[in-house]
This record gives sequence, C-alpha cells and structure tokens, in this order.
Amino acid sequence: MSFIIAIDGPAAAGKGTLSRKIAEAYGFQHLDSGLTYRATAKALLDAGLPLDDEAVATRIALAVDLGGLDRTALAKHQIGEAASRIAVMPSVRRALVEAQRGFSRREPGVVIDGRDIGTVVCPDAPVKLYVTASPEVRARRRYDEIVAGGAAADYPAIFEDVQKRDARDMGRADSPLKPASDAHLLDTSEMSIEAAFRAAKTIIDAALNRN
Ligand code: C5P
Repeated sequence: MSFIIAIDGPAAAGKGTLSRKIAEAYGFQHLDSGLTYRATAKALLDAGLPLDDEAVATRIALAVDLGGLDRTALAKHQIGEAASRIAVMPSVRRALVEAQRGFSRREPGVVIDGRDIGTVVCPDAPVKLYVTASPEVRARRRYDEIVAGGAAADYPAIFEDVQKRDARDMGRADSPLKPASDAHLLDTSEMSIEAAFRAAKTIIDAALNRN
C-alpha cells in the first residue's frame, strides 16, 4: 500500500517548499493539488469561458491531466485568484478530488499538499501536517519572492490578498480549509524551512516505524 503524507495549510505558508523537500528525502512522488485547481482556472481563462458556470468548469476539471501540470505556467496571481473562485464549486471539487485520490495510490508513497487533503481527499493518511504562519509573515514572504524575482510589489495589496484568499478558502461550505482533528500543527512564522523539515521528519519517521 502507498504511504500518504497529507500537507494542508493556507496560501504562502511554506507548504509547497516543505512538501517538495519531504518528497525528495523519502523518494515519494509529489502532487501540489492547488495546481489542479489552477490548471482548471487557466483553461477557462484561456478559452474565454466564464468562471461562474459550474457545469462548464466541471467539464474542464474532468479533463485536467495530472502529468501536464506546469508550476511556472500556473504561478500567476490571477490564476490563483480564479482557482479559489472555482474551488468553491462542489462538482469541480469532486472531479479534481477523484484525480488526486488516483494519484495517492502511487507506490511507494506520495506527498500531497493543498487545503483539504487530510480532511477530505485522504482522510486515512498516516501522516497529516497542517502548515501555517501568520498572515503578516505569509504576505511578507510573497512580497520578498516577487521583489527577488525583479518585479515591483505592493505589501499592503499583497497583505489584503492573503486575507481575502484565507476568507474564501476557510469560509466556503464545501471542504473549507481547516486542520484535520489528527493533524500535527506546524507554525512556520518563526521557523526556517530546515527547522520545519526537521520537525516534519520526526513525525514522518515515527509514523513509518508504526506502519
Ligand atoms: O495552493 P494554491 O494557491 O496553488 O491554490 C489555489 C487555490 O486552489 C486555493 O486558494 C484554493 O481555493 C484552491 N485549492 C483547494 N483545495 C486544494 C488546493 C487548492 O480548494 N486542495
């Protein structure tokens, strides 16, 4: 059976970097489930289709190819915004969750990160981490990332975006962002990525020993 590590948390909490590091260390395959929502949103935007038609969005979601998810092509801020709008639609979620569950069966194990992996997609995962950081720290990291990439950034606008995205992800009726009752909380506000990795490794190794 495949060993599943479920990593959830709000936008820009550091779960992507942490997930990739964990996948590499354990030789597991990694899926950033946010990319499946982003790919659906991008396909709609590219085709000039509306973002508020659930039937149309579901048809696009059913066609998303997990093998063709390109992080760079899907990184844009507008795509993330559009993704969080279509992510409130139950039948879009059902289509993408089905694809994510298919991925979760890959041997020898997988790391899947997102918003509802430990609560909905893989509720039986032996390791669940909920990675978070204060909105101020997350906005600051986003800001630094953009500036490091050579672009101009506006901290107050980014901070407002982070809060808006949190409200939409935590407030939706279907699969809202929240820690699973058996998730380990990892607050990275004052933690380096290395420290977060060490904390995660201790939890994962203990679970592997139990299995
Ligand atoms: O993590 P990322 O910013 O790429 O996710 C984009 C959006 O996709 C999130 O704001 C959220 O609304 C949605 N999402 C989700 N469930 C997941 C992953 C992402 O609803 N498992």
